[in-house]
Amino acid sequence: MEQISRLIAQMTLAEKLGQLTMTAADYAVTGPLITPVSEDAIRSGAIGNLLNLYGAGPTHRIQKIAVEESRLRIPMLLGFDALHGQRTVFPIPLAEAGLFDPAAWEATARLAAEECTGDGLNMTFAPMLDVSRDPRWGRIAESPGEDPFVGSVFARAKIRGFQSANLAGPGAVSACAKHFVAYGAVNAGREYASTDMSEAMLREVYLPPFRAAVEAGVTAIMPAFTDLNGIPMTAHVYLLQNVLRGELGFDGVLVTDYHAIAELLNHGVAGDLAEAAALALKAGVDIDMMSDAFRLGLPEALRRNLVAMEEIDTAVRRVLVLKERLGLFDDPYRRGRPDVGMTAQSRALARDIGARSLVLLKNGANSLPLAARKIALIGPLADAGAEMRGPWGGAGRIEDCVSVLQGLREAGLDIRHAPGVAIDTDDVSGIAPALELCADADVIVLCLGEAALMSGEAASRAYLGLPGAQQDLADAVFEKAAGKSVVVILFSGRPLAVPSLVSRAAAVLAAWFPGCEAGRAIADVLTGKVSPTGRTAVSWPRAVGQVPIFFGERPGGRPFNPKDHFTSHYSDVENTPLFAFGHGLTYGDFALSNLRVEPGNPLRVKVDVENRGARAAEETVFLFLNQKRAGVTRPVLELKAFGKIALAPNEQGTITLILPPPEGRAEVFVGPNAAFTSLLSLSI
Ligand code: NOJ
Repeated sequence: MEQISRLIAQMTLAEKLGQLTMTAADYAVTGPLITPVSEDAIRSGAIGNLLNLYGAGPTHRIQKIAVEESRLRIPMLLGFDALHGQRTVFPIPLAEAGLFDPAAWEATARLAAEECTGDGLNMTFAPMLDVSRDPRWGRIAESPGEDPFVGSVFARAKIRGFQSANLAGPGAVSACAKHFVAYGAVNAGREYASTDMSEAMLREVYLPPFRAAVEAGVTAIMPAFTDLNGIPMTAHVYLLQNVLRGELGFDGVLVTDYHAIAELLNHGVAGDLAEAAALALKAGVDIDMMSDAFRLGLPEALRRNLVAMEEIDTAVRRVLVLKERLGLFDDPYRRGRPDVGMTAQSRALARDIGARSLVLLKNGANSLPLAARKIALIGPLADAGAEMRGPWGGAGRIEDCVSVLQGLREAGLDIRHAPGVAIDTDDVSGIAPALELCADADVIVLCLGEAALMSGEAASRAYLGLPGAQQDLADAVFEKAAGKSVVVILFSGRPLAVPSLVSRAAAVLAAWFPGCEAGRAIADVLTGKVSPTGRTAVSWPRAVGQVPIFFGERPGGRPFNPKDHFTSHYSDVENTPLFAFGHGLTYGDFALSNLRVEPGNPLRVKVDVENRGARAAEETVFLFLNQKRAGVTRPVLELKAFGKIALAPNEQGTITLILPPPEGRAEVFVGPNAAFTSLLSLSI
């Protein structure tokens, strides 16, 4: 602390603003490049932090300039997006959320942190904690899904994993929870659009994962690009100062999103860069990522008395405190080691997590696991290793990715393969040759879906069907298959609205983007080596017109009643999702019974689970609450806990779920997903 005060006292304004600036090297550009990173700018102290540079060699070289050649020798924050792994790419976060397993969520973040630090990084722009109920929005792929309770448990696990118990340790990075707040509710699911919502919705749905992140000690937070109820988040004094720093008690570093301060001019709330910089600083922002607004605008803002030097010093102090907590002043080179690439252990973890993230949406006539060995493997995602990483592949390499084709061949299956069509073109000339493979096969496996970059940032979609000519391919295959089983493996960064595909397929596996071990993970499930356990962390719509669709709706005065026209419904589609939150089949056959609540604080909710199937498997159960509170409507279901149990055939066990006692009357619901028809209930 004393060292920091001493440093601040010695700093010129330019050096202070350098500490408040983060500039991108050109490894992964997602917006305009403003300041070219030059060694001179680092040497002079004009740039104090970098993003998008990784690798022990490059980071060491650049850190050395800051530490050994700049006047004050202040080390740099070096940040990168490791959303679902760094070198070892795990399933996309939406898929990983479907494990409903905090230990697994923590383990992948821990390995990512170790690989990040190996690459010389000390910060990652993760976890992404935007609850989202809108599959049109491409960034739902990066999110933990539709539910705030899941988002909160996910947040705590990820922050433990990234930061570990010792932030200064050689394998720990500063996590940066993002994007604060409500970015997941952009209008009409269109990327970078604005957001409007009630304070109740904000506090009950969008804020809780960030509250959990702060409670878990997250050291940095990134405000969203978007505006909320008319105020851009980068300049939102009430939410950043009063709520985040005040109410939630966050005392870490606020790093803007890419170019967000300069974009305050486009939002129309600032007239020039000096005003924009002042708005952000006053809102509590510490680091300007890629606008160069603090460096260029704050000197002028000081002249105009828009900001005071003490406000700049406060931000500088927060940045230096983070550098100190990361141990950078003690040893700036603690992180960074010779490239070891992926290891047998990291591959094994990626394969295990990949397999457990797959969601078996449908399994008609027990088509899976595959009994037959002669397989026609058709579709543009079958031999597409690079796509398996999904959006934000970190430092993952294409050559490290295992395609479905490779994975199934390694598993000893007899495969003929043809893509049929490309992912997103109109060319149907490959369909006929692909159909020829069907005649000879026992089973047809169709690998369909999106390209990796159709989700993630700047990847909103208005149609949620199969892209390009894939539906034509699927239709032709269903015609040709005549009686043979067609198994669909669906790759996507979001739920797709594909009801007819689902009804015609014998089985459907939602693979999302499973990461670098995709092919082996999928082979493990298709062959029955692993029984699927993944559950969807987001509802799947039947039609785009149902969006946003989620289980936590408030009830309304005219809930749907098929006998009464004047109740809440669509005239052309059911209200329910095609697949409810939590849905996911296993190779077991589970029955739940004997729901009971043991009194106490907390309450202990117990349910017996029996595997009546022929295979060992793991069941996941969810505990929802419906609370009745005078004067305020509550969601029909609120998720309060989830748990898992692995059972052999004919084995029985009990799951215990912990529930804080609700205020007032409530009904407890327990079941394998959020569909009302699958829930047991009890009044408490
Ligand atoms: C823009 C994205 O919105 C954000 O999530 C990311 O961390 C930055 N770019 C830096 O890559």
